[in-house]
Amino acid sequence: MFFGENYEPPEWEHARKQGRLSRQLLKVSRNYPDKIRLYNFWLQIQRINKDKVKGDFAELGVYKGDSARLLHLMAPDRVLHLFDTFEGFTGTDLQPETGKAATYSTSNFADTSINKVLKNIGGDPERLKIHAGYFPQSAIGMEEMSYSLVNLDADLYNPTKAGLEYFYPLLAPGGVIFIHDYNHAWEGLIRAVDEFAGTIPEKLVFVPDLDSTVMIVKNKSESLL
Ligand SMILES: C[S@@+](CC[C@H](N)C(=O)[O-])C[C@H]1O[C@@H](n2cnc3c(N)ncnc32)[C@H](O)[C@@H]1O
Repeated sequence: MFFGENYEPPEWEHARKQGRLSRQLLKVSRNYPDKIRLYNFWLQIQRINKDKVKGDFAELGVYKGDSARLLHLMAPDRVLHLFDTFEGFTGTDLQPETGKAATYSTSNFADTSINKVLKNIGGDPERLKIHAGYFPQSAIGMEEMSYSLVNLDADLYNPTKAGLEYFYPLLAPGGVIFIHDYNHAWEGLIRAVDEFAGTIPEKLVFVPDLDSTVMIVKNKSESLL
């Protein structure tokens, strides 16, 4: 079958056959429900490594660390910054929401903790940097960072807008920002992304994964073309 449940992109299959994918990554990948999201992460990471795009990885919206675990297993040498309240959404962010997000409360995604996340991700604790608290305040003092990959998965208008405003200027040329859940159910998130996308030269790239991710791949600077 061409696109059946055993589908693997050719480059992933090749890497697996050459033994370049860790046993842990293969194990976690088998159980990960969104294969398109998974392979898209991996293909972008291969490109970033091949193009020698410098900078740390980051995720805003970690919850129990499932997508963070994939990113860490796919790039164990990169520092991965993890931003979350680790206590779920705040009332301030929920209050202006409409659509699906308006049915959420501060108890959603509250059943996690830093210890649970670190245990779930495993790997090298030296390369996992926890930034607990309300974003964007949790990024104060991190204005000189450089990022090569950012996963925004915070569902709501406020953190998504603040995430784009903080991370995009610090994204290296060739770096990528993924924004999860760009679909009609998440009205505030769509508004945040569309408002921000109107201010930058790059187009949104649509990914047909289970929850509709969009990507921003930062243009190379003139001097690198
Ligand atoms: C959908 S969950 C993340 C799912 C996760 N990426 C995974 O793979 O399971 C959304 C997360 O965003 C976090 N979040 C939302 N707004 C935030 C804010 N302003 N500051 C910090 N964390 C926030 C919530 O605490 C929640 O854990």
